Amino acid sequence: MLGTSNSIMAMGLLALTWLGGVMAESSAGCGKTATIRNQQYSMQVNGKQRQYYVKLPDNYDKSRPYRLVFLWHQLGGSMTKIVNGEDPNRGGVIPFYGLPPLANNSAIFVVPDGLNAGWGNQGGEDTTFFDQLVKTVEADLCVDTKLRFSTGFSYGAAMSYNLACSRPQMIRAVAVISGGLLSGCSGGNDPVAYYGQHGTSDSVLNVSGGRQLRDRFVKNNGCTPVSEPNPNGGQSVKTVYKNCKEGFPVTWVIHNGDHNPSQTDSGSSTLIAPKNTWEFFSQFS
Ligand SMILES: *[C@@H]1O[C@H](CO)[C@@H](O)[C@H](O)[C@H]1NC(C)=O
Ligand SMILES: *[C@@H]1O[C@H](CO)[C@@H](O)[C@H](O)[C@H]1NC(C)=O
Repeated sequence: MLGTSNSIMAMGLLALTWLGGVMAESSAGCGKTATIRNQQYSMQVNGKQRQYYVKLPDNYDKSRPYRLVFLWHQLGGSMTKIVNGEDPNRGGVIPFYGLPPLANNSAIFVVPDGLNAGWGNQGGEDTTFFDQLVKTVEADLCVDTKLRFSTGFSYGAAMSYNLACSRPQMIRAVAVISGGLLSGCSGGNDPVAYYGQHGTSDSVLNVSGGRQLRDRFVKNNGCTPVSEPNPNGGQSVKTVYKNCKEGFPVTWVIHNGDHNPSQTDSGSSTLIAPKNTWEFFSQFS
């Protein structure tokens, strides 16, 4: 009996779906009637109660393998603040970091809630939370397991960086917005596609820290280093590193602003982070 159910499970996990000319790797939830809704859930992780929110695409289709995008909040933030958004003119984030309107219903978003409103990752407990979230969500929903992404601002960037270090096989790409080394970097020797963004006037997590995080993946991804790019006045400057290993690009955006998830170029109302993050993530399909 056990053997039979195991092999059925394995078939589910390995099922390949032909999707727009590329092979998607479908999660066990593909084909199942979903029970997860747009709402808050909780789970036990190492004996602690953890909260998270799931946002489904409109007209969720159980036979379509979706992208799975993790959104980690900043210190003092919360799942609820990511879901509802805050006033960007007062340093806040817009709902779901502004990504759903760009994703055109191609992604499932998972918004975890931090212990003590951050991602201290004591003993790897937030990494374990991530592992359990992947398992739980993918058992119920249809996910392309080759297309998991992670992003966040500040502490949320640190948590995404931690996953690039510790879960390189599970994460297709990260977007590290104004990050620092706050959630650890267990492992950290494997390539992961990396988008980094930082302000030269960052008064909370300085830009040299952000550059150090980036440089680990410039190296891991085999890209050719460049002399340090600087912003052009109030205009951000985007650098796409060259000669990276196939499938492991690094893009870096430097601006002259402070610690701000809602930075724009001067004279523009378009937020830099959502636009560039989605451009970076959506190159993978
Ligand atoms: C949005 O997704 C739908 C369905 O996959 C597709 O037909 C449409 O072209 C997409 N629109 C844009 C703007 O990418
Ligand atoms: C940047 O921040 C780190 C960590 O707080 C600190 O060790 C370093 O001295 C700072 N560097 C600069 C140039 O301010």
